[in-house]
Amino acid sequence: MEKALECAQKARCIAPPTPWAGCVIAKDRTILSSGWTEPPGGEHAELVALKKLSNKNLQGATLYLTLEPCCHRGRTPPCIDAIISSGIKRVVIGTTDPDPNIRGKGVELLQNAGLEVELGLLEEKIEKNLRSYFHHKRHGSSYTVIKVVQSIDGCVKAENSAALSIIGTEAGKDSHYLRNQSQALLIGAKRVLHDNPHLTVRHVPLEGSPPLRVVLDHHDTIPLNANIFKTENASTLCITSGRKERNELLLSQGVDTLSWNKPGPISCSFIQKELAKRGVLQLLIEGGIITISHFLQEKAFHELVIYTGPKILGKGGKRFSEGLSLSSFAESPFLNLVDTQQFGDSIRLTYHHVALALK
Ligand SMILES: NC(=O)c1ccc[n+]([C@@H]2O[C@H](COP(=O)([O-])OP(=O)(O)OC[C@H]3O[C@@H](n4cnc5c(N)ncnc54)[C@H](OP(=O)(O)O)[C@@H]3O)[C@@H](O)[C@H]2O)c1
Repeated sequence: MEKALECAQKARCIAPPTPWAGCVIAKDRTILSSGWTEPPGGEHAELVALKKLSNKNLQGATLYLTLEPCCHRGRTPPCIDAIISSGIKRVVIGTTDPDPNIRGKGVELLQNAGLEVELGLLEEKIEKNLRSYFHHKRHGSSYTVIKVVQSIDGCVKAENSAALSIIGTEAGKDSHYLRNQSQALLIGAKRVLHDNPHLTVRHVPLEGSPPLRVVLDHHDTIPLNANIFKTENASTLCITSGRKERNELLLSQGVDTLSWNKPGPISCSFIQKELAKRGVLQLLIEGGIITISHFLQEKAFHELVIYTGPKILGKGGKRFSEGLSLSSFAESPFLNLVDTQQFGDSIRLTYHHVALALK
């Protein structure tokens, strides 16, 4: 199953919104075949692995699958039919699929067809790996990761200075891989006005489709020639005031729009639900300070990834949480440190929001 999970990881960036699964077929302690989920519309992991063995006698073989096989016709035919007709008699499954069309039915149908099914091997590890998919299916909302790049003294921005590179090249590459694992990247209007970012996956090879770029601009302040509105290489969704002329201008440039015309800030849970409808399993918040603070204030995040680079920004430097106001220490979100990585002189810390990350 460890090998099947390694296979699943190969589909991490290409499969969404389909869940990334991995499959290994083994007999007498030898791996006969393996596979992972193809991009949407393509084949699921078990079909990829089985096709490599067509016409082979699979008596006595075991099929290891990280996620329960589908039993309904979606973009592809049901996978359980292929497993049953392959002649394999034993299937080991990591975890059941929370999709309401499946949710245990795949296991049941295999058992009804006389196959021996073992369920739950490496379940916790697989659920953690698929947490954005599980969250999306259970809550109809996008799993949200806040990314922060800061100096040793905890600043994301020096006083009155343009954007600067705080972290080293390797950490920068890692942050682009994090982008690639997300189906949408979100920034606030001021970040566009200050930095004019492209917000695309660079410095690492792009796997799958480029993430959707989302920009919060409900006062319609961003100039139409901003890089974020150039849609040749990646799509953009702009949250606007809802003014008809502005929306039409953006649409004529290929920018999708979503209107927010209620008083007050745009609700973060509204954004998460709207993006979930567009197939965004994981949303990456890329700043700036005001935008991040809205997500912190609304407790609308599941993970916090902090890159710290070897710089000191000193007096006037701004912290990522500047806009968060807490009435007492008890209100501070409770976070669990789940991973630390070093990239040269820079480090990455990953925290889960204890109350929300794996629900
Ligand atoms: N080191 C890092 O990790 C990092 C990352 C990103 C940015 N930065 C730096 O941070 C600076 C920009 O940050 P910033 O804090 O000034 O601004 P920002 O967060 O980029 O943009 C804030 C603006 O976005 C809109 N917005 C954000 N959240 C909203 C919500 N929930 N509802 C409605 N509107 C919302 C508002 O636009 P309106 O004003 O129209 O209401 C708000 O004024 C840049 O200098 C950038 O270099 C650093």
